[in-house]
Amino acid sequence: MTVGITALATHLPEKRLTNDDLAHLVDTSDEWIFSRTGIRQRFVAGEQEYTSTLAIQAVQKLPPEALQGVDLIIVATSTPDAFFPSVAALVQDHFKLQAAAFDLSAACAGWAYAINIAVSQIQSGMSKKALVIGSETMSKITNWQDRTTAVLFGDGAGVAVLEEVPEPYGFKSFAWGTDGSGAKHLHAGAIAKNLPSGDPLSPHIVQNGREVFKFATRVIPEAIQTATQKAGLTLANLDLIVTHQANARIIESAAQRLGLDLEKFVVSLHEHANNSTASMPMALDHALKNGRLKKGDLVALAGFGGGLTWASTVLRWAY
Ligand code: ACO
Repeated sequence: MTVGITALATHLPEKRLTNDDLAHLVDTSDEWIFSRTGIRQRFVAGEQEYTSTLAIQAVQKLPPEALQGVDLIIVATSTPDAFFPSVAALVQDHFKLQAAAFDLSAACAGWAYAINIAVSQIQSGMSKKALVIGSETMSKITNWQDRTTAVLFGDGAGVAVLEEVPEPYGFKSFAWGTDGSGAKHLHAGAIAKNLPSGDPLSPHIVQNGREVFKFATRVIPEAIQTATQKAGLTLANLDLIVTHQANARIIESAAQRLGLDLEKFVVSLHEHANNSTASMPMALDHALKNGRLKKGDLVALAGFGGGLTWASTVLRWAY
């Protein structure tokens, strides 16, 4: 049985913060941010808007029939409203779905992890139809005095509906992994004072940008290559590549390392910045709205994030 994505929707909060707006908050400039990252603007949730609010808004934008028969909800997030209940439980209640619901934590690779879990659930017969949501309010864990991280992230949510699709559509392969020895390079939301390694933790996002950059530029091409091989395909078969939208330079480096034309990659981060788990559905939606993704296209997805984590999958687009 093959499982595919049959609907997709995204939501961004109303408040827009341009690079110039940020230059009033910290010592930075549009020139620095754009040249180092490719980001032009980000959207920030209001005081009364949380990760569940954005997730619910994204689900609301799906075609109404897409919710019929949903029996599994997974929300990938690093910024849940609370430790419990899960954001997924709040979504379940809002739409009164007869579904099992839980959150998943794998930082920015979380949405790709959640897709993998949902596909396995449906293929095993345990579930029939899943909402796989990535939703984040990164602004709530941002240190707005720290220019090295405050310029990178944005809030937003995306949702994909997963269910059985006919051959030859749907997911073909997965590759994923974790390297916890890199935990100290990217973390946020601490309860503990230190990591087991003794490295200090913080309630706000802390990042060693250079280490994360090195990790991402290595792991993204490797993961895409592995998933493509596992699918019995070659890189030349891929029509579109959608990576986590963290930095345009990381995407350019991946294209170069894979020997692929940058035109095959979706770059949407200039519009919405790094939305963590929501960034890949955001980029897929961008490709759909711009006519770059059509039924039958072979697509590789690849995410990376805190943990450190990574995940890639290859699918044939089903609608
Ligand atoms: N504005 C102006 N100057 C800045 C800013 C800013 N916003 N931020 C840093 N600088 C300064 C630094 O202080 C430094 O100054 P110095 O030379 O006087 O010390 C200089 O710019 C260079 O800083 P670097 O950190 O070396 O800059 P770099 O070229 O490495 O770019 C960046 C930084 C953009 C963060 C890059 O390292 C990067 O993209 N890393 C990967 C980040 C990423 O992908 N994160 C996703 C994480 S996914 C998740 O799970 C959350």
